[in-house]
Amino acid sequence: MVKLTGLKKIKTAVFISGTGSNLKNLIRFSKIKNSPISINLIFSNNFKAKGLKFSNQFNIKKKISSFKDSKIAEKKILNLLKKENIKFICLAGFMKILSKSFIEKFNGKIVNIHPSLLPKYKGLDTHVKAIKNKDKIAGCTVHFVTAKLDSGKIILQKEVKISKKDTPASLAKKILRQEHKLYPAAIKKIFN
Ligand code: GRF
Repeated sequence: MVKLTGLKKIKTAVFISGTGSNLKNLIRFSKIKNSPISINLIFSNNFKAKGLKFSNQFNIKKKISSFKDSKIAEKKILNLLKKENIKFICLAGFMKILSKSFIEKFNGKIVNIHPSLLPKYKGLDTHVKAIKNKDKIAGCTVHFVTAKLDSGKIILQKEVKISKKDTPASLAKKILRQEHKLYPAAIKKIFN
């Protein structure tokens, strides 16, 4: 009897610039039988990104290209994405803004995780802003990427309570823990 191995997973690239805890978490998620994605490429604009170590650790191809000339960098990535047959991109702490033309080539196939309850606090320093404004609730959002920064359709959000003792650093930590649950859940929501 032929054994059914299930549907093929969607070949995915994760773009990072730093620590890569979301990357690691997505790699773990991708290995679960019911995960709709496999992680086949890690891209970073930062040669020193700590998260690049997960390339060796999990035997995943990596590509690094500085964004000093973003046009050249995007061209290089696009070629590689095509070559590797990548169909889906997860931005996970990727600190560069992709061009409109790049995003259009992957229209509806790029998602991002952002550490705030969008549309509140687009851009950087979300935790500092939340504390400064004495917010009681913060959170994280997974959304589709469009040419307008942090403005694409929201897929899932998770709230996190801010306590009086919270600092930007402690809040970031709390939110990151939720991010690690939210990103896989959002990907499941997209594909299931
Ligand atoms: C996360 O807080 C993510 O929401 C933001 O950048 C941070 C990346 O953390 N975009 P890590 O590199 O995944 O640990």
